[in-house]
Amino acid sequence: MKKKLIAGNWKMNGSFATNEALVRAILPGVAGGGCTVAVCVPAPYLAQVNMLRTMTELQLGAQDVSVHEQGAFTGEVSAAMLKEFLVRYVIVGHSERRQYHGETDALVADKAKAALAAGITPIVCVGETLAEREAGKTEEVVKRQMAAVIHTNGHCISEIAVAYEPVWAIGTGKTATPEQAQQVHALLRAQLKAATEHSERVHILYGGSMNAGNAQALLAQPDIDGGLIGGASLKAEDFLKIVAAAR
Ligand code: 13P
Repeated sequence: MKKKLIAGNWKMNGSFATNEALVRAILPGVAGGGCTVAVCVPAPYLAQVNMLRTMTELQLGAQDVSVHEQGAFTGEVSAAMLKEFLVRYVIVGHSERRQYHGETDALVADKAKAALAAGITPIVCVGETLAEREAGKTEEVVKRQMAAVIHTNGHCISEIAVAYEPVWAIGTGKTATPEQAQQVHALLRAQLKAATEHSERVHILYGGSMNAGNAQALLAQPDIDGGLIGGASLKAEDFLKIVAAAR
């Protein structure tokens, strides 16, 4: 069985002082293997967190990447730049970027491709809004979002990670039940299976108000291979409880 992956998404939070305190507090709980642990930090802090985690098992992640390799794209950060900071994971297509920055399925697919080309694992986020769920469109929406990534990335699709993040569960304290999450994870797995014979390799993470209290039940589901954690990743004690539940 593959190791579970627990990734913290710090979003736009942090400072030199709080980052240092947080990383120092989580490092002892990350040691010893059993699951892979990563923190996806704001780009300006990649160097700091990279230094703090040197010689440890904590993996470094970023929160976005440009589709472009280089050039006149003010404000963008390329995959090659991330790679220089030893970034192993990059979140692409988070619902906050789809919603506030107009990112389309096609752009998200291209971002996944740019990451893969640089040897970075994209964590591709998919998920439905509350309105879409209530209209019975959950399956249609996540399949459409996933299909774009499969179409653009061909046989490389087994190298990605996926995060199912129902938009209504993000930062709201409302978590999908383990059964609700498993249902979507199973259909994403089936979609990947149809695209690659290595679909079992793909980590399908759950994200959306995952916390110390609900992690165990979610992670016990057969197709939930880890978590993408927002709020709870900013509190060392909570984050480490989730890591412990994934072991
Ligand atoms: P919360 O864990 O704060 O709900 O955020 C989830 C998320 O968006 C992770 O990417």
